[in-house]
Amino acid sequence: MPAAVAVTDLRKSYGQLEAVRGVTFEIEQGEVFGLLGPNGAGKTTTVEVLEGYRTRDGGSVSVLGVDPQEAGSAWRERIGIVLQSSAMYPNLTVAEHVALFAGYFSKPRDVGEVVELVGLDEKRNARVKTLSGGQARRLDLALGLIGDPEILFLDEPTTGFDPSARRAAWSVVAGLKALGKTVFLTTHYMDEAENLADRIAVIAAGRIVAEGTPETLGGRENMPATIRFGLPHGVGAVDLPGDLRALAASATDGRVVLESSRPLADVKALAEWALERGLDLPDLDVRRPSLEDVYLRLTASPKPDAGE
Ligand SMILES: Nc1ncnc2c1ncn2[C@@H]1O[C@H](COP(=O)(O)OP(=O)(O)OP(=O)(O)O)[C@@H](O)[C@H]1O
Ligand SMILES: [Mg+2]
Repeated sequence: MPAAVAVTDLRKSYGQLEAVRGVTFEIEQGEVFGLLGPNGAGKTTTVEVLEGYRTRDGGSVSVLGVDPQEAGSAWRERIGIVLQSSAMYPNLTVAEHVALFAGYFSKPRDVGEVVELVGLDEKRNARVKTLSGGQARRLDLALGLIGDPEILFLDEPTTGFDPSARRAAWSVVAGLKALGKTVFLTTHYMDEAENLADRIAVIAAGRIVAEGTPETLGGRENMPATIRFGLPHGVGAVDLPGDLRALAASATDGRVVLESSRPLADVKALAEWALERGLDLPDLDVRRPSLEDVYLRLTASPKPDAGE
């Protein structure tokens, strides 16, 4: 099966600014692919090139087997787009707006069904200009879905959504995936990427700095775990058995923190030590690095060769 998206050495500059500096990745059909990165990293630029909204300066791009720069209306019907910010017709109602977009497609989904899917049923007859920020964003999502696309591009789809609307949008995306659709997603929410994406790429200063599944990104599965606990008055980290004492550092809240590459063995040793002394360690917790920890590590300092 050919890839839904194939990008090789993509480059795009705005004047002197190299926004995208040689980006390469593929997205399989039916995959949810997440692009993460700090503000200004080049996500929207990349998405817009893939959508056919921007020309590129270099590299090759194929979306559903077609170069977006040369694609026609037949290709456009197969893709769905949720821009980071969209132009709206403020005086149309929600239903009218969605119906207008439905008219651009030969086989659109049902307008009422899509309005309901994004949770705007109660606002179907409200004018677009009266929508709250999050409701306007839901309308954007409806406009991306109305053409029943094979691939959907979502640029920060849930920014401004309240928590329950975000969950609802996630289930919309999960539903698309279940139908075998391909989804390209940018987001600043790590929980969103973790919940939705099969694969994630992190872009920083126009370059991809890591790629993997949410579980393996940036070597996450091999990173040390953090074991944290408080000790009762009169007992200190110096009293821990030697192996653990060597790993121990004090946290700002007075608890002991151990960075452990063998958390199971170290927790066992700690538990045995504590039980022998009748210590309870009621606030013991063991934590694997979160996707956010990994992301912050990957995007912390600019790459040495990323000079302007
Ligand atoms: N039309 C434009 N003209 C000039 N510079 C631009 C233009 N669009 C984007 N840029 C610049 O290109 C860089 C990448 O911008 P882009 O919008 O792709 O970032 P992003 O990763 O989507 O960021 P965000 O998370 O803030 O949405 C930024 O430095 C931005 O200022
Ligand atoms: Mg952007």
